[in-house]
Amino acid sequence: MKKESRKVIIAGNWKMNKTPSETKVAVAETAKLTSGKCGCEVVLCVPFVDIAAATEAAKGTNVKIGAQNVHFKASGAYTGEISAAMLCECGVEYVIVGHSERRQYFGETDETVNLRTRAALDAGLKVILCLGEVLEQRQAGITEEIVSMQTKLDLAGIPAEQMKNVVIAYEPVWAIGTGLTATPEQAEEVCAMIRKVVAGLYTPEIAEALTIQYGGSMNDGNAAELLAKLDVDGGLIGGASLVPEKFAKIVDAAQA
Ligand code: PGA
Repeated sequence: MKKESRKVIIAGNWKMNKTPSETKVAVAETAKLTSGKCGCEVVLCVPFVDIAAATEAAKGTNVKIGAQNVHFKASGAYTGEISAAMLCECGVEYVIVGHSERRQYFGETDETVNLRTRAALDAGLKVILCLGEVLEQRQAGITEEIVSMQTKLDLAGIPAEQMKNVVIAYEPVWAIGTGLTATPEQAEEVCAMIRKVVAGLYTPEIAEALTIQYGGSMNDGNAAELLAKLDVDGGLIGGASLVPEKFAKIVDAAQA
């Protein structure tokens, strides 16, 4: 399979930003600015409390709505958590799992990332699985080992037939929210390596069909050269996704 036949996905990760009323405006604006752009799938991953406003505003448009986390149990005494079934019933299609901020600040491990991924896939959600090395690991020359380990641990036990609902987002932690973007060559090198690991875990066909995004200070100025790389099939965008005009320009860059 060629790059052109893989699904390109441009996803915004709003993180802890925007209230429901702000969401209504931003989703509508994003939908307006990206309408008719069929060269990629457009996703906005919003805070839990914004999901209702977001799905309402996205109705009938090309914008799909995602959440930013999901718990691995179906129900029970897990104060503050949200289940996959709850997300599905609210009209959520995608969910981010394993974002580095969850790993850094909320004790997420590859084990819990794996459990959350499995629960989300079992419920029929599409998962944007985030992984990537921290600066010390890159400087120590162990990016390949770290990212390959995360890929294997996070995908453990996920059957081949569910891989069509998995997107991997390679996000070097040192590039997130820092303005330090990986070079297109660095992004390509790691995305290609992830694809190789997935080919080993599953089949070359599954790996070829997998959408692998780059994330970390992607913006309207650098998106085109990152997205031009053979193994970079989209982006997971934080800061720049909060401004519909900027986000729409990234979607434009994915049309080529
Ligand atoms: P950033 O965030 O684009 O603000 O660097 C990316 C992310 O955390 O997904």
